[in-house]
Formats: sequence, structure tokens, C-alpha cells
Amino acid sequence: MKIDPWSSTTYQDYSRLRDEFGIEEFSEDLYKFLPHPHRLLRRGVIIGHRGFSQIKDAIQNKKSWAILTGLMPSGKMHLGHKMVIDQVIYYQSLGADINIAVADIEAFATRDYTLEQTREYAINEYIKNYIALGLKTEKCRIYFQSKNQDAKDLAYLLGKKINWSQMQSTYGFIGSTSMAHIFSPLIQTGDILHVQLKKYGGGRPTLVPVGVDQDPHIRLCRDIAQAHRLYNVTITKDNRIGVFIKIDENIEKLLDNAEKILNKLQFTKINRITDYKAIYINDAKKEDIPLIDEALVKTEPFFGGYGFFTPSSTYHRFITGLTGGKMSSSNPESAIFLTDTYEQAKKKIMNCKTGGAVTLEEQKKNGGKPDECVIYELFLYHLIEDDNELMQIYNDCKNGKKMCGQCKKYAAELMEKMLIDIQNKRKTAEGKIKKYLE
Ligand code: TRP
Ligand code: SF4
Repeated sequence: MKIDPWSSTTYQDYSRLRDEFGIEEFSEDLYKFLPHPHRLLRRGVIIGHRGFSQIKDAIQNKKSWAILTGLMPSGKMHLGHKMVIDQVIYYQSLGADINIAVADIEAFATRDYTLEQTREYAINEYIKNYIALGLKTEKCRIYFQSKNQDAKDLAYLLGKKINWSQMQSTYGFIGSTSMAHIFSPLIQTGDILHVQLKKYGGGRPTLVPVGVDQDPHIRLCRDIAQAHRLYNVTITKDNRIGVFIKIDENIEKLLDNAEKILNKLQFTKINRITDYKAIYINDAKKEDIPLIDEALVKTEPFFGGYGFFTPSSTYHRFITGLTGGKMSSSNPESAIFLTDTYEQAKKKIMNCKTGGAVTLEEQKKNGGKPDECVIYELFLYHLIEDDNELMQIYNDCKNGKKMCGQCKKYAAELMEKMLIDIQNKRKTAEGKIKKYLE
């Protein structure tokens, strides 16, 4: 199996994704410590992650950290797209630096849009809605891929350590794939890593919240970040912890530097073997590796390295479309757009697929299936903040105490409130856009 980030597959089998690709489960201990964990985190909508413990450590120990995510400006913004920005706004409230890439080059390269068309979508759909939803200007920048020379330069330079076979096996590119398309994952790597350049805040933990379809890009980017490290801290086959130099220049200096850092971290049983370009730390434990690695990565820029922290990611599950399949801009009946009128939204909700039984009697007797109900999903993802209220609906549905007609009406009411609020705030968003754009 391959994950294709440009297809319309929804990838429902999340446990298989985890087993096959090494995505880790987003377990309770990763968000329980947060102040008011966001509903998407606490309700299991975030189904997996890579390296989130690095972000947890940054939040807990008040270290600086960044968010980088991207938007695809190729259509209208709907509830599925809202999930990313909901998380971003939450992370902004926790103190993260926010960076948002407008993927205009990717939209140009992988779909049939001109850069001008994508600009229109980016501004009128995404950015205005982001502002209406509450994205703040402090520590926040939105940029266009096509206008950011640093991200593009990195894309090119970092491509040095990835070859065609790897690209082919990750993405299934074939002979007729255009070069622009082939290059676009590297642009995304440039997006993710450029926020760690000195000019943008330097090396630090960076979280990329995305849908699981983006995992191939994340794997590529993490591999590339690691490939450019100067130090590798690892546990050897014979169970020792070692620091290894990955390049052939400056070996003595890099070993000196590592020794100094290990001393500062109070390790004393240090065994330096210059021929192996290695230092073994006999009094270190496996749990010490992240700490040692963090201290070392920060010094890499002094020796000509980039000093990239390996970026972390979280993956959200996709919201189901109102017609049962994928929620997609190209099928307006399947999606609720943030610019839909109340009447449009209500109509889609009223026609929507539920987990109700065929007849009312049967539903009263056997209950409904909230787990298979799109209305319930709307509550869970977007409309109901109070966990107790949500649970009540869940139970009432299962016990046959709630009927779908009533539920749909309530969903339509809540949706109206949400849409009116967004649309009111959109009115003043236009004048604020400049403050966000770099
Ligand atoms: N590829 C992403 C999409 O299809 C958009 C994107 C571009 C992105 N650069 C990014 C996402 C960096 C996360 C991080 O939606
Ligand atoms: Fe869905 Fe509500 Fe019907 Fe239950 S009662 S199946 S939650 S619409």
C-alpha cells in the first residue's frame, strides 16, 4: 500500500496506517497535560503522530516551538479544511510561533491552476476565514510558496540528499509525471524546515498538523532533516549510547564540542574513539538520548550544519462528507463551505446520511448508530464544545431516545450560529489581511 497525497482516497483504516508506516498512536498522555486540550485532540479525531513528545517537552518546559502547516488554494474552504486552522489557533493560544504556507506552487504543479487563480482562493477563501475564525496576528505569518526564496532555496539544496529511487518508491512517480510535480514534495520540505533558519527563529521543535494523506511528505521531510545532521546520538547493537559524527570534516572539533556538552550535562564515563568518529557515554541511559541530541543539534550551525530539529507531525482523520463519501470542494453537496448561506447549509444537513434506523419504531426499539452518523460527526468535530452534552446525545441516540429529524434540526441551528459568526467576522477581515502576510 502507498499513501497518495494527491488522490481523493480517505484512508479509513487508521490502525493499518499506523502498523504499516510507523505512525504512532496519539495517546492520552500526549494531550492530558495541556490546559483545556482542544476537542479534536481529546475526542480522538487526531489519530496519530510522529515525534509529538518533542512538542510536549517544549510546551511543558516553556521552550520556544513553532507550527508550520500549509493550505492548498485550489477551491472553496469547507469544514474539513477548518480542522487544521482550529488546531493552529489552539496552538497559537499555547504560545507557538505560527507559520502558514500557501501551497500555490503545489497547486500549480499538481492541479490545473495558474498562480493568479490560487492567490484569489488563498485570500478570499482561506485567509479571510482564518481571520474570522480567530487567528491572531501576533507571532503569525502567512506566506506564498512562490514568493518565499528561503523555502525554495532549501527545497533545492536539501534535495541533494534524496534520490530518484526514493522519490519513486515514496510517491509512485512515473515517466510522464511532470518535473514541477516531482519537485513539489521538496518545496513542502522547504516549507517545513525553513522556519528553523536563523532568520525565522532558529532551530526548534516544529509541529506540522495535517491530514494523514500528507504523511509521505512528512516522512520525506523528517528523513531529509536527519540526513543533514552532523551528529547522530544512538543506541548501538551492543547496547551502548554513542554520539557519532556523520561527516568527514572538522571531526576533532566536533568531538571536542560534544565532549564539552556531555560534561555540561554531567556525564562522566565518556570514552572518545577518534578513529570511529565516536564518543561512547557509559553512564547514559536510553531516556537521555533526546536531551543529549537537543543539546548537540543546537550547536550544529556553528560547524556549518543546519541544526534542524526533526519536525513532528499530527494526523487528523477526515470528516465524512454529507453524502457519505469524502467531503470535497468538487462535490458541493458533500461539503459545507464556510461561505454557505444558512439555507444552503440547512438543506445539505436535512438531506444528509445519518446512522438512524429505517423506521421510527425500529429506531425507538434498537437505537441509532452515532458512530456511523454524519450529523453526529458534525457535533463532534465542529458544533458542540461541551463533552457532557455530546455524550448525552450519543447515549440518547444509542438508547433510541433521540430521533434523526430532531437531531438534524439541532445541527442546522448550531451550524447557522457558527456560519453567521464567521460571516460577520469576515466583513472586517479584508482590511486585516496585510498584517498576516509576509
Ligand atoms: N501539501 C499540502 C496539501 O495538499 C499543502 C502544504 C504545502 C503543506 N506545504 C505544506 C502542508 C507544509 C503542511 C506543511 O494540503
Ligand atoms: Fe445521528 Fe442523531 Fe440520528 Fe443518532 S439520532 S443517528 S446521532 S442523527
